[in-house]
Amino acid sequence: MSLKTTLTRMWLTRSFKPFLFTNEYDEDLKFDDLDNLGLYVHIPFCERICNFCPYCKTLYSEELCDRYIDALICEIHKVGSLYPGKKKTTSLYFGGGTPALASDRLGEIINAIGEHFVITEGIGVELHPSNVTSDTLRELKNAGVTKISIGIQSFGEKFQKILGRNSVDPDKLRDALNEVPFETVSMDFIFALPDQTYEDIKSDIAKAFECGANHVAIYPFIDFTFTSSKVKAMPKKEKRELLDKITAYCTEKGYPRNSIWTFASKEEARYSSMTRDNFLGFGCSATTLLRDRFKVNTFSVEEYCKRIDEGKLPTSLTIKFTLRQRMVYYLFWTAYSTKVDPAGFEKFFGVPLKKMYGLEFALAKLAGFLTEKDGVYTMTPKGAFYYHYYENFYTLAYIDKMWGIMRKEAFPEKIVL
Ligand SMILES: C[S@@+](CC[C@H](N)C(=O)[O-])C[C@H]1O[C@@H](n2cnc3c(N)ncnc32)[C@H](O)[C@@H]1O
Ligand code: SF4
Repeated sequence: MSLKTTLTRMWLTRSFKPFLFTNEYDEDLKFDDLDNLGLYVHIPFCERICNFCPYCKTLYSEELCDRYIDALICEIHKVGSLYPGKKKTTSLYFGGGTPALASDRLGEIINAIGEHFVITEGIGVELHPSNVTSDTLRELKNAGVTKISIGIQSFGEKFQKILGRNSVDPDKLRDALNEVPFETVSMDFIFALPDQTYEDIKSDIAKAFECGANHVAIYPFIDFTFTSSKVKAMPKKEKRELLDKITAYCTEKGYPRNSIWTFASKEEARYSSMTRDNFLGFGCSATTLLRDRFKVNTFSVEEYCKRIDEGKLPTSLTIKFTLRQRMVYYLFWTAYSTKVDPAGFEKFFGVPLKKMYGLEFALAKLAGFLTEKDGVYTMTPKGAFYYHYYENFYTLAYIDKMWGIMRKEAFPEKIVL
């Protein structure tokens, strides 16, 4: 683990205590009294596996997918019936993998969720470009889906080749999206690929908006140690120049930044499963974040189904946060939205933000990372770049290590980060 990440963790959590995840089995998920609770469902199937992708996924087979979804529905009922009545939640996101491959069964999953939860801010689904046909889109819409996110990566042939993906036909995309509209149509792009210029990315983003996207997510390429990809990430200076130009271009075109990686046309165009104070995750590799704990389900589809067959939750690892750890976690993901409202922090923790992290926020303001208006902090472009930069360390120090272990071991004894 990098020294930079460890020292930052010690400073912000005011402790030498690392993040300790153990396989202590726990069925007590207390979510009934939580506000701003989101839901996430993981569908780990893909038609082809991309060698750069870190997510928990496996090749699609109808039989395995059906068995998995039966188990998933059991998990939803098991967790949902921990408390009587229907719990109010914000949004539901389906991620993967490629959840649209199971578009014929998403309605069933949504109905199971509807027996225990009320969703107030819509339902989002991730799609591979090959899923974008009017038939599949209609199926999703009929099931209640309001937002879609399509993994384009690039419209450029050269970059699709570098990533080992097939080219995407923008005309087909546009036609299907015109036929079946959604409240949010987001498209994912990967930037900072070898020799990628601003002109390359600008042309990708322009095409996305032409095809009907009202939201784009522009992810910096991350070279995970456990993937077999040979693609190397771009050096820091070039990356920063690219990011600044992308930010200026999207803002000028009427799509200002609405989170660290996303730019959107209007307030309603939102697609983010990350900026939620608390969430329940269902399916393999799904995570659950509650008031003082965080848990991760097993990454193994086989073991996931077995656990459910045994009538147990498929939890692999749990961490019980110290208060400071939870505060750092909260601030990290709130800052992802590029805004931190001290009133939200105080409501969640019952103590003023200034009392806990006044010095850090004052220093961040002095360094030009943040501005403060009406008591709310907003990240500057410089702050957003450094967030990107630090997130890269966080991803490589924590996520890379954890996922690297979990994809090999269904139930590791413990992980110390
Ligand atoms: C689950 S996939 C999206 C849906 C679908 N499976 C697809 O690939 O089109 C989530 C997104 O993560 C991003 N992603 C995957 N691997 C990445 C990496 N190594 N670095 C940066 N972004 C990555 C891609 O933009 C991808 O669209
Ligand atoms: S990028 Fe998408 S399609 Fe490719 S392996 Fe990952 S989840 Fe599957």
